[in-house]
Amino acid sequence: MTSATSLFSPVESDLHLLTETLKQLVGARHPILYAAAEHLFGAKGKRLRPAIVLLISRATMPSQDITSKHRRLAEITEMIHTASLVHDDVVDEAELRRGVPTVHSSFGNRIAVLAGDFLFAQSSWHLANLDNLTVVKLLSKVIMDLAEGEIQQGLNRFDSTLSIDAYLEKSYYKTASLIANSSKAAGVLSLVSPEVEDHLYSYGRHLGLAFQIVDDILDFTASEDVLGKPACSDLQSGNLTAPALYAMEEKPYLSVLIDREFAEDGDFEEAIAIIRDSEGIQRARELARAHSKFAVEHLESLPATESQKTLIKLADYVLSRAY
Ligand code: IPE
Ligand code: IPE
Ligand code: MG
Ligand code: MG
Repeated sequence: MTSATSLFSPVESDLHLLTETLKQLVGARHPILYAAAEHLFGAKGKRLRPAIVLLISRATMPSQDITSKHRRLAEITEMIHTASLVHDDVVDEAELRRGVPTVHSSFGNRIAVLAGDFLFAQSSWHLANLDNLTVVKLLSKVIMDLAEGEIQQGLNRFDSTLSIDAYLEKSYYKTASLIANSSKAAGVLSLVSPEVEDHLYSYGRHLGLAFQIVDDILDFTASEDVLGKPACSDLQSGNLTAPALYAMEEKPYLSVLIDREFAEDGDFEEAIAIIRDSEGIQRARELARAHSKFAVEHLESLPATESQKTLIKLADYVLSRAY
């Protein structure tokens, strides 16, 4: 399996610069936030989203270097993502992220909420300073979508009638919106045509959905050590993802366990066993594969550069990634 890092080689030095800039941008104002920023941007995040922005920037500027606005957009994208993780970990009460203790478990909930807010606020400020209203609209919508996604997920806990469509809609809000809109924004900064803008958006949307579906599969199949974050936590908190939804179609008894919120001894273990024993994980993989394939089709509008080829490979990496 290819690791994310070796795949990002066309933008490796850009990503290195990005990490340093992020630590400076976020950490300069306050010691406690500096500590949180060190902790967040020094830890082993995959930097998938800024890598996509940088690759699209390079793929849409084939004969020129990318601009400082492209770089800033990549930084803003990672800042928004990281802010959403800091808040997500508070909501989920997760103890581990990127292989290190979460901000709330190291510094307390108060600091974690403030650090997340601070990251969102800073991303908005840098966004406004790009002086491009189209890009401001695309990325500020993402921040709304992230909140919408978390709220939908919170409201649908343990709802065994949840449909796959509703699950995909929530996954768009939580995950795919950021990748779709930042992909399109990179094209906007490169002055591509409206048709290419639409293709870039669709690439990001399908890739983002595939990425989230695989994340939801890994929650069932991988260990905390490998993931660098808790495993088996979605079902436990009532977050019903693709493997569980498909398994319920096949094994209706699973919904009885979910409806009573695993109240009886052994319910949760039984539910996990039912899902692992069903076609749920396999069907979820097929769903992810379909979205990854759609993503690739939208790259045909770009010239065949090294960056474009890497964006194609990314669609495979998303399916085969181990963490
Ligand atoms: C985690 O994203 C949140 C999801 C959308 C599944 P990543 O898996 O990209 O997290 P990092 O940035 O590598 O930590
Ligand atoms: C993605 O969803 C989190 C956000 C986009 C805020 P998850 O809840 O699946 O992310 P993990 O599994 O905690 O990384
Ligand atoms: Mg989470
Ligand atoms: Mg997850």
